[in-house]
Amino acid sequence: TAQRTLVLVKPDGVRRNLSGEVLRRIEAKGYTLVALELRTADRELLAGHYAEHEGKPFYEPLVEFMLSGPVLAAVVEGHRVIEGFRSLAGTTDPTTAAPGTIRGDLGRDWGLKVQQNLVHGSDSPESAAREIGLWFPNL
Ligand code: CMP
Repeated sequence: TAQRTLVLVKPDGVRRNLSGEVLRRIEAKGYTLVALELRTADRELLAGHYAEHEGKPFYEPLVEFMLSGPVLAAVVEGHRVIEGFRSLAGTTDPTTAAPGTIRGDLGRDWGLKVQQNLVHGSDSPESAAREIGLWFPNL
């Protein structure tokens, strides 16, 4: 049974014209795009999306960053795609993310309050279901 995950190309990735590169890596890995939308988030959507981070020191900078420009939201499907995309993305800190990963190859620390790490991927089946419901309520 195929699994689904929510992938975001964050505003830094869209601004740097890396949306296509991220989609290329997802498709080259063999996963399937089932929904795709370029749009600017609002506070309500981000409050839901980042509910688990509310109160952390990077929460407000994170929300401001995520509001700073359009995001490419995608639902991606395939067996074990949740762990598969997280493996493609690399670890959270782009400075030390492994070369070969999206963050490791394309990201770096810009000395800002929030880590701008190009992409988001759901971290569990429960998160994926919740996040897909938030970003694609009609799916
Ligand atoms: P992501 O894992 O997609 O969702 C939470 C985001 O918060 C994370 O990506 C980073 O962009 C950011 N983040 C996580 N931890 C830190 C941190 N310690 N300092 C700054 N930003 C962080």
